[in-house]
Amino acid sequence: MLPTNSIGIFDSGVGGLSVLQAVASLLPRERVCYVADAARCPYGPRPAGEVLEFSLGIVKFLLSKKCKLIVVACNTATAAAIDELRRAFPRVPFVGMEPAVKPAAEQSKTRSVGILATAGTLQGRLFSDAKERYAAGVKVHVAAGNGLVELVEQGREDSPEALALLRTCLQPMLDDSVDELVLGCTHYPFLKNSIEKIAQGRMAIVNPAPAVAAQARRLLEQRNLLSSEAGAHAFYEFFSSGSVSTLALMQKRHLPQLSERCSYEKL
Ligand code: DGL
Repeated sequence: MLPTNSIGIFDSGVGGLSVLQAVASLLPRERVCYVADAARCPYGPRPAGEVLEFSLGIVKFLLSKKCKLIVVACNTATAAAIDELRRAFPRVPFVGMEPAVKPAAEQSKTRSVGILATAGTLQGRLFSDAKERYAAGVKVHVAAGNGLVELVEQGREDSPEALALLRTCLQPMLDDSVDELVLGCTHYPFLKNSIEKIAQGRMAIVNPAPAVAAQARRLLEQRNLLSSEAGAHAFYEFFSSGSVSTLALMQKRHLPQLSERCSYEKL
């Protein structure tokens, strides 16, 4: 693997763009190969075995593109597949999404934190382990954001439907003094405006993407694989198993600063 090779990033859809945002800002000279498995989105309600099978296929594709590190920019796929991916590809550095229970529990003044995630993530071992390990003495409220991923995929993150769904998830948390809200799905940072309308400053939003980008940089540094050292220039290749034009639209909406250096292809 060479420093000039790409970082691979994948998600069920456009959610991983929230992680790409953090990666592109921390590592502005890295090339990135992004896969959105839009044809099979959402992953959240699917059995873990199916999400694992999809993840293995996408990782094989990213490795065929010679990716030097792979970010599983999907909490659901991380929960279902990260252990098996590390076993199946022992030489490949992987970074998965961390359920950010620890920083939320540390920062909560009310000792009451909320986790908004997909059903798949909430049922996974990663989340229950993090809760057990980091949330002693802290009340953890969970809500499965059923339907939210679909709205973000449709570009309706600020719609009345998104606001209504979010209110159902968040009102019980607000009623119970939750003051830290972990976004346990990479699609949810795009709902920030709607969340803030409901929370009215009463909950801080914890987005784990910057910590994930920092971990990617650490692993590349350890392996002397940072492209900045090789004087490379960033380029962003986007692949979608679904609509390429939707992915392009979302990239332009959420990451307009990259637009000059992007290509799109159907998977
Ligand atoms: N972005 C994915 C995650 O973080 C969305 C899951 C889905 O497709 O339901 O879990």
